[in-house]
Amino acid sequence: MPRPIIAQIHLQSLAHNLQVARQHADNAFVWAVIKANAYGHGIERAVLAFAAADGLALLDLNEAVRAREAGWLKPILLLEGIFEPADLALVNRYGLSMTVHCAEQLQMLAKYSLQIPVPVYLKMNTGMNRLGFTPESFASAYQALRQIPWVGDITFMTHFSDADLPEVVNTQRARFLAAIEGFSEKKSLCNSAALLSAPNCIADAVRPGIMLYGSSPFAYRSAKQCRLQAGMSLNSEVIGVQVLKPGDTVGYGSRFKAEQSMRIGVVACGYADGYPRNAPDGTPILVNGVKTRIVGRVSMDMITVDLSPVEQAQIGAAVQLWGEQLPIDEVAHATGTIGYELMCAVAPRVPVSACP
Ligand SMILES: Cc1ncc(COP(=O)(O)O)c(C=O)c1O
Repeated sequence: MPRPIIAQIHLQSLAHNLQVARQHADNAFVWAVIKANAYGHGIERAVLAFAAADGLALLDLNEAVRAREAGWLKPILLLEGIFEPADLALVNRYGLSMTVHCAEQLQMLAKYSLQIPVPVYLKMNTGMNRLGFTPESFASAYQALRQIPWVGDITFMTHFSDADLPEVVNTQRARFLAAIEGFSEKKSLCNSAALLSAPNCIADAVRPGIMLYGSSPFAYRSAKQCRLQAGMSLNSEVIGVQVLKPGDTVGYGSRFKAEQSMRIGVVACGYADGYPRNAPDGTPILVNGVKTRIVGRVSMDMITVDLSPVEQAQIGAAVQLWGEQLPIDEVAHATGTIGYELMCAVAPRVPVSACP
């Protein structure tokens, strides 16, 4: 019998979240961003759940190949483009679209002769200062790209550094539009936060990621307020119960000390499952559907929880670390991180099952 931990992927909720994205997108092309193994949900499951997307956007060629092998026939965009010239053979073989964000990628593309025209997203750095041509060099990068016979449609793209802050979004948007004034190419600006909060940025194509998985891109607005549903539930069970006397401590480092007698549940989930080791006492967790708290340090394979609010809970009691009944954003907030990191960190040893 395997350990009772399991990550359940809610395919219908993922599909619902995509619908929410589309409702905000006017008639823009919707790329479902599925990088990092679909934010931990699995490429093949994402292919099923996001069947209604117009395209899939990701980083790794091997994930693009997996999506094609899972039957995805619509466009796939490589959000970081290629890393070496040999990647271009796969770009053509699998019919991929690619980002071009630097002069080196332009040169690789110019040198390598491709059979099928490749659609390109030309990226401008408008303030993130990670990838992209500066606004000043953008037009000449565009002209160079246009000279390459095997370059197909070109779309202009930028990415927001603070998509939840309207003043930063507006500054980046203005920089982007000023640099491409007079061009008739299609444009793409929005990630989830901008899609949900900046209708003037929707343009021709949008690139929602985190919202599709049911986590809010905003600190001030919950997933429920955004009409999003949890894409993943990380569930486990109580596998041990301890009764503490006042003054007893729990776990490594004796971080938690009982002030009164209390029952502690030991849950099959630890940092080797991807649960954050820095989770403080008080981090929310559900036992038999009742919200309680973590007490004591997270260890490799186990977490200890306060059973005081669930007195009847015994070995075998159902536990939810995050998911349908406990928003991942609440756990992320308590542990000083974001939903993105939690869902991406679920470890390979955790069994995953898709449910409709
Ligand atoms: C270029 C680009 N577009 C879109 C996204 C999706 O962003 P989010 O998950 O915040 O919606 C990302 C993710 O980092 C990205 O790098």
